[in-house]
Amino acid sequence: MQLTDQFNRKINYIRISVTDRCDFRCIYCMSEQMKFLPKKELLTLEEINRIASIFISMGVEKIRITGGEPLVRKNIDTLFNNLSKNKDLKELTLTTNASQLMKKAEMLKASGIERINISLDSLNPLNFKKMTRTGDLSNVLDGIEHAINIGLKQIKLNTVIMRGINDHEIFDLIEFAIKKNIDISFIEEMPLGDTAFSRKSTFTSNDEILKKIKTNYLINKIDYRTGGPAEYWQILGTKSRIGLISPHSHNFCEECNRVRISCKGELFLCLGQDDKIELMPLLREYPNNDQPIKDAILNSMKIKPKSHEFNLEQNKPAVVRFMSHTGG
Ligand code: 5AD
Ligand code: SF4
Repeated sequence: MQLTDQFNRKINYIRISVTDRCDFRCIYCMSEQMKFLPKKELLTLEEINRIASIFISMGVEKIRITGGEPLVRKNIDTLFNNLSKNKDLKELTLTTNASQLMKKAEMLKASGIERINISLDSLNPLNFKKMTRTGDLSNVLDGIEHAINIGLKQIKLNTVIMRGINDHEIFDLIEFAIKKNIDISFIEEMPLGDTAFSRKSTFTSNDEILKKIKTNYLINKIDYRTGGPAEYWQILGTKSRIGLISPHSHNFCEECNRVRISCKGELFLCLGQDDKIELMPLLREYPNNDQPIKDAILNSMKIKPKSHEFNLEQNKPAVVRFMSHTGG
């Protein structure tokens, strides 16, 4: 079967947040004093694996593990190991801040991870610390280096540019990607959760970033897609591509192929809307019968919204939950 929503969009991709916790507190993602969920409110790793299997039986072919920082969840290796055994899963991917890659890269490679997105917003140790509040740049760079060295393929950088904070580092970040033969995507800041900064003052559109890039690089728009909302440009004479993920300036909802599962088992139908259903109570009520869960997922397709409604003028978050809760 193939999950399909009311607008005839095929849902073949799920993103699962395995924890709301993170060892960083990036200023666009979290507030300084974050309250995290108590462990008992989280899905167990077995439950996450069960949800994944159910979605795969309904036509999902691609799963991205996100957070928070997925690699800080205890025993996360078991989940990767279990997912890697599911023959119907075509692609298993991960979003990480790279802080644990020195320790975890081998495990990820053994699990057949296809694609790793690594968040990297600054190459200046002080600015990196300012943006992540708790992160250590040299550890992150070591992690990236290590992942490349052991042969993990398809590593991509994800960068959020904030005006007045890291907008002077765009070229440095691109140079780094070129040097490492990897791609880099710029993600427009989204109003998810209440953070320390006024989103409107730091928001930098990808149109502006693209203009700036063109003053320094020869780039060609290409057809390359990875099944997500990024549009790509090849940097001529290099192996690197630049991706732009522009939820504000280019609405990509028409092609939406995904839903998200939060670390407490909420099935969110859109990153920028509140529509959701709770899967945890069903999982616990029916430990040996997947049908009620399948029915709930099928029903949820009727409430998947047509699009997000991000609006920076509103001066308040589009949704009050943080990205780390829903999964990026
Ligand atoms: N807006 C845009 N990107 C965000 N991320 C986290 N919070 C936000 C936000 N409010 C990014 C992270 C990571 C990816 C999953 O999403 O930097 O790279
Ligand atoms: Fe952690 Fe990623 Fe959020 Fe930064 S953006 S606080 S690394 S989850």
